[in-house]
Amino acid sequence: ERDAHGAATMGGLRLEDLLDLGADAPRTPAYVYDVDAIVQAARDLAGGFEGAPHLIAYAVKANTAGPIVRALGAAGCGAEVVSGGELAVALGAGFPADVILFSGVAKTSREIDQAIGVGDRGILALQMESVEEITRVAARARALGRKARVSFRVNPSVEADTHAHVATGHDEAKFGIALADLPAAYEAIDRAGDALELMGIGCHIGSQLTRTDEYLEGARVVLDLAAERRATGKPLAYLDFGGGYGVDYGAGCPVTPADFARAATRLAAERGFGGTRIVVEPGRALVAPYGVLCASVVMAKRSRGEPSRRWLMIDAGMNDLVRPALYGAKHRIEPIDRPPPAAGEAPGYRVVGPVCESSDDFGEHPFAELLPRAVVIRDAGAYGFVMASEYNGRGLPTEIFLAGGRVAAIHESRDAAAWAASRLFG
Ligand code: LLP
Repeated sequence: ERDAHGAATMGGLRLEDLLDLGADAPRTPAYVYDVDAIVQAARDLAGGFEGAPHLIAYAVKANTAGPIVRALGAAGCGAEVVSGGELAVALGAGFPADVILFSGVAKTSREIDQAIGVGDRGILALQMESVEEITRVAARARALGRKARVSFRVNPSVEADTHAHVATGHDEAKFGIALADLPAAYEAIDRAGDALELMGIGCHIGSQLTRTDEYLEGARVVLDLAAERRATGKPLAYLDFGGGYGVDYGAGCPVTPADFARAATRLAAERGFGGTRIVVEPGRALVAPYGVLCASVVMAKRSRGEPSRRWLMIDAGMNDLVRPALYGAKHRIEPIDRPPPAAGEAPGYRVVGPVCESSDDFGEHPFAELLPRAVVIRDAGAYGFVMASEYNGRGLPTEIFLAGGRVAAIHESRDAAAWAASRLFG
């Protein structure tokens, strides 16, 4: 996405033009999102189900911004939420209760009541992550005089080939009901009687998966369990294969989200579940590639020791985008006004932010001697702003939402005085 002069664009607009780079107070650091491209990504994924009944439950945790959540809701997605706050965002953005799933290992009683209490029947399902939780939710449903719809999120004991911090389906993860505990989980459902209705079974094995193998291993476990359940004469309303579809951060990702959907849909059909609704829970793949973090270049620093080093100081830090510091993630960083030089053709600069931590480091990237005024940090639409903090007295970054070839909404950063006032409590 660059124009004829090589300037970075998004949604048909030049990023430079959105940021007031020449002004005393440029609008950086700022996230910029292409909402139309996000909706298109959801449509492309939907194509992977090849007409089979399905629900794309967008993992709201990846990006909770109203313009994005609303657009995905309007495009027919459901929502997977993990807190009362995310549930309120999904409802506020117009998602019907019937397409909302609530996951999380430690839902509070308040959150459980909130989810059970929505509309006439509560949300589509509270995802049970332990036997203990089933008993708790049954008690809350009785107390409220309602029936709670629930699902089992099982831990399929699959090792995802991804960063340890985002692998969730293995034996030692805190997530999901262990396969060994399923008999007890079914007993808890039976004991609950009218208070609970078991809607589905699912798993989520981890995030940033760049091949379908382990995803399908998880899907096989879910299909085996669904077949057992069906044999008892109590078929499930849906099967949930989770999210985790990877994106290309620069190292490549040979599979598309639709590839995961297609493979899982065909597997389900082979196993006799062609008519059963398939639920998936993608977050990252719907939003990461369609958001960038723009930062002004503050200055370069050179150390002439041996070996000599070059740093590029920018006005975005780990508080704005924590993925590099937290996971060692590498995001492509490019000049805003011209294409990046090929690696090896220009000196490498360590791109660092202003935060007083050594881990405030976005890695080494090539820049030509004439430095740009600003840079674009790519693929920052997921787990970017949502994980931002105000550490070091920095306000949260600005967010700019593009749709239909224009700026659809802006969420401005607070300035230093407003941030200080928020900490002084009067
Ligand atoms: N469903 C469940 C139950 C999950 O725990 C997650 C993500 C998702 C769906 C969505 O996964 P996705 O499609 O986005 O991979 N902050 C980390 C990622 C944490 C993912 C947590 N769970 C990162 O920046 O890489």
